[in-house]
Amino acid sequence: MLSIPLVDSTFKDLRDYIYDQSGIYIADTKKYLIENRLSRILQEKQLKSFEEYLKLIKFSSNGTELTRLFDAVTTNETYFFREPQQLDVFADLVIPKIMSTKKAGQKLKLWSSACSTGEEPYTLSIMLTEKNITANKFEIHASDLSEGVLSSAKKAIYNSYSIRNMPENYLRKYFSPEKQSYSLNASVKNTVKFNKINLIDNNKIKSLRGMDVIFCRNVLIYFDAKAKQKVVSNLYDCLNPGGYLFIGSSESLHNVTRAFRPSVTNKVIMYQKV
Ligand SMILES: C[S@@+](CC[C@H](N)C(=O)[O-])C[C@H]1O[C@@H](n2cnc3c(N)ncnc32)[C@H](O)[C@@H]1O
Repeated sequence: MLSIPLVDSTFKDLRDYIYDQSGIYIADTKKYLIENRLSRILQEKQLKSFEEYLKLIKFSSNGTELTRLFDAVTTNETYFFREPQQLDVFADLVIPKIMSTKKAGQKLKLWSSACSTGEEPYTLSIMLTEKNITANKFEIHASDLSEGVLSSAKKAIYNSYSIRNMPENYLRKYFSPEKQSYSLNASVKNTVKFNKINLIDNNKIKSLRGMDVIFCRNVLIYFDAKAKQKVVSNLYDCLNPGGYLFIGSSESLHNVTRAFRPSVTNKVIMYQKV
């Protein structure tokens, strides 16, 4: 497949547009990646140039094109029980601490804020169940920018890549095999509420206040400093006082915010709203 040439000025227009819409920043060095990944879409749509493509995404009213663009410029990679050390700190230390502050009838509220195809929020649900915290005692919200990943998340049918870190007994307990895939049981599936939320959209984010723990893992890497600050400040506002934020273990809030109190347990960094 031949790439359609992307001239520098159009690359910059496209890059600025993606940034304004999502906070995702594409460095100059990634131009080739955009050219390669988007050429396929252009050819499929029989568009002759990136200028035509830019017009299409700016003026297409249903958002489908924009979603495909976001999918092409980010990676949706995720899997069950990703970064297990962090998850163990969450389940063994953070959850008991928060549960001890809850009054009768008050639910634990979690949010997986860049949930991709759902493995992260469903992992949290399985972990709570394993701690004997029943579904009537918690709410798990999950969101992403991309409609494509959210629709897969709601189906909850996974391949062997997604479940490769999953303890064998959980696979038997919470999934039903289906041809080459694994279908998540309704008892877990029904505990997660999915929503389309753009993390840089202040208004949309306001719908998710009062969280006890927010997971925002492996997405801050796509943002520049300004967008990171905006996203992290939005997440801060959504947490209850004393609530926790977990970011990816290769990510950092250094030079992003001093609002949280960082602490380290078993080499895992977590950020608490004080
Ligand atoms: C690599 S996945 C991370 C999935 C999961 N949190 C994990 O760590 O396994 C990154 C996700 O961030 C989403 N994303 C990128 N920009 C976003 C934004 N502005 N708002 C919400 N989600 C966004 C992408 O669509 C993608 O699904």
